[in-house]
Amino acid sequence: MSQGHWIKVAIDAAYAAGRLLCEDRDWHVNDDTGRDTKSSADEAAETLIRRFLSPIAPVLGEEQGGKFLENDPFWIIDPIDGTVNFHRGIPLGCISIALWDKGPKMGVVYDFYRGELFYGVVGEGAFLNGMPSFVSKISHRHSAVIFTGFPISSNFDDNSINHYTNKVKDFKKVRLLGSAALSLAYVASGRGDYYEENSIKIWDTAAGMALVKAAGGFVSYTSGIVCDVVAHNGLLKPSQSSA
Ligand code: IPD
Ligand code: CA
Repeated sequence: MSQGHWIKVAIDAAYAAGRLLCEDRDWHVNDDTGRDTKSSADEAAETLIRRFLSPIAPVLGEEQGGKFLENDPFWIIDPIDGTVNFHRGIPLGCISIALWDKGPKMGVVYDFYRGELFYGVVGEGAFLNGMPSFVSKISHRHSAVIFTGFPISSNFDDNSINHYTNKVKDFKKVRLLGSAALSLAYVASGRGDYYEENSIKIWDTAAGMALVKAAGGFVSYTSGIVCDVVAHNGLLKPSQSSA
């Protein structure tokens, strides 16, 4: 089966899950412990996406788990990235679907609130609603926008606040959207320039990392399900303290 077919299936899955999330008025919270929230909507969307993808390759997903494969291709999915935003009616979030093959290869990020579809294949290019998309050309931090977030495990002590301040202080603007996948899609389309987040789950970032690479940018990450990720336009170098 060709990669062209794989991306078509991933896009079909993202559109189907987007329709489900826009139409589901009866969702309910299943678990709201600590800083994490889970709902019936996340669960139903993941079940639907898996129906499209699992005949092609194994799936690792936020809600229903799976294995991180070191040597074989597999899908990595997040049925809603920006779950708390979704629950609170903040229209910032997306469906995130990646193909991982010893690294990020293909990404689909669908912002179902705005009908914006970001997709890309590493080495072939990135697109936003069918139009080619590229990372920005901004080369100085004082002109650049950084996207970031606080790790779910953060206890907001002095160390984590200092780390945050050091990370963002040289940039023109900082944005915390509450969706890592959407933040990375915005770097891939030149709406921002740099993304960094530590202790983030791979399903939050895999598709976005593929998009940034496909759009001509640079990504680095520690390996495994919980990782530290830096992604940027290739002109803004990570600081000494990052990644
Ligand atoms: C969260 C988002 C957020 C990031 C959190 C993630 P969720 O994923 O990606 O941007 O800062 O660490 O947990 O819970 O909305 O799927
Ligand atoms: Ca997520």
